[in-house]
Amino acid sequence: MTTDSTLRPEQAALVLPPAGSALWRRDFLFGAATAAFQIEGATQADGRVPSIWDTFCATPGRVARGDTGDPACDHYHRYDADVALMAELGFGAYRFSIAWPRVIDDNHRLNPKGVDFYHRLLDALDQRGIDAYATLYHWDLPQHLQDRGGWLNRDTARRFADYAGQIAHALSGRVKGWMTLNEPWVSAYVGHAEGRHAPGLRDPRYAVEAMHHLLLGHGLAVPALRANDKAPVGLVANVNGVTAASEREEDQRAARRAHASNNHWVLDALFLGRYPAELQALWPDAVVPARAGDMEVISAPLDFIGINYYFRAVVASDGDRGYVVHQQPGVERTQMGWEVHPDSLRDLLIEFHQRYPNLPPVYITENGMASDDHVDGGRVHDEQRMRYLGRHFAAIQQAIDRGVDVRGYFAWSLLDNFEWAYGYEKRFGIVHVDYATQQRTPKDSALALKAFFQQRAQAG
Ligand code: NOJ
Repeated sequence: MTTDSTLRPEQAALVLPPAGSALWRRDFLFGAATAAFQIEGATQADGRVPSIWDTFCATPGRVARGDTGDPACDHYHRYDADVALMAELGFGAYRFSIAWPRVIDDNHRLNPKGVDFYHRLLDALDQRGIDAYATLYHWDLPQHLQDRGGWLNRDTARRFADYAGQIAHALSGRVKGWMTLNEPWVSAYVGHAEGRHAPGLRDPRYAVEAMHHLLLGHGLAVPALRANDKAPVGLVANVNGVTAASEREEDQRAARRAHASNNHWVLDALFLGRYPAELQALWPDAVVPARAGDMEVISAPLDFIGINYYFRAVVASDGDRGYVVHQQPGVERTQMGWEVHPDSLRDLLIEFHQRYPNLPPVYITENGMASDDHVDGGRVHDEQRMRYLGRHFAAIQQAIDRGVDVRGYFAWSLLDNFEWAYGYEKRFGIVHVDYATQQRTPKDSALALKAFFQQRAQAG
């Protein structure tokens, strides 16, 4: 591995949080994040059953260049070296996801070989003193459940809770935190209204139904986890900045609706026990398949909330009801075309703190950016990512200064990986992956973070 000394001090300084900030304190958690389908590969190994993403990848035209979940980062076989690398970089925590199709078979029973993989991974983390944070659903629904309607079927919520209870029992005492769902907004909306993600449906009415069943699954999973393990339980929600393209009332209204959909749909359900009224205006034909008592199940208290943040969207009116994302010229963007806008992270955190009196402690469970990275003489010069990280650290500190209880930060992602419908082209890693050789090369951002963690350890 390249040594830190080759990174110029002014470059390493790009990632440093503001002096005196809470992020310098040893009790502020710094981790790296990944997800099973994006890194593991080995989709046929040890009795894993197909997931909706295997099906989606096999459907022509769905994923760029026909990329699939194999071999990804071959992490299923290389997990030990990957954990060693994380330890070498100085991370104290790791957020990964458990593949439901690996650990539960077609008969809804535990698959011991699949569970063993996570035991081996947890052993490796334990040996290096890295805390484990496990996400239970990072979008890889078993295909046999999709064949029965997937998240449009209320029974999937019960199946999810059953899986949660079984895996918590099997891994009891081994993780520091459980995260039920990753980004239910993306599962519901991008998967069922936009059709860009599995299962590829295109009707907002489906999105509304899927969201309710996802959140019900979360709500049912919480007591199932608590009955089997003592670790704190939370959910991971994606949020993004929303700004109206103009002062015109129709653009302002479009922004309010986009904000309600993108940022309040999940959080209002969890912390206010209701869905935002604006959604009715956005999708008047949609019907929430709620039964008496569901919202109480969904809004049961949580131990923490995970927030994933990447960008801001500037939105304009799209006729009567909807909104469209307006491509602002002259702003900094990433390889995804996403606008870099750290102030929105600060503002959203402050807004949530004010809107939800019962907001539990917050972890930033994902943040990062994609860039077109190349290895050059054993190094990857990802200066834009270093600036991005440092500016978001400062934004988090500003939110903490305003009273928001932020306890930790996970960089997305440890490794370059399978970026869903974009395949392998988009590189979010702080570690570069050469997919032909499976060679890992820490990017300059990883070296800068390592230097920060070392300084932090010495300071505290
Ligand atoms: C959020 C998702 O959780 C993750 O799977 C994805 O790769 C990143 N966003 C980047 O798009």
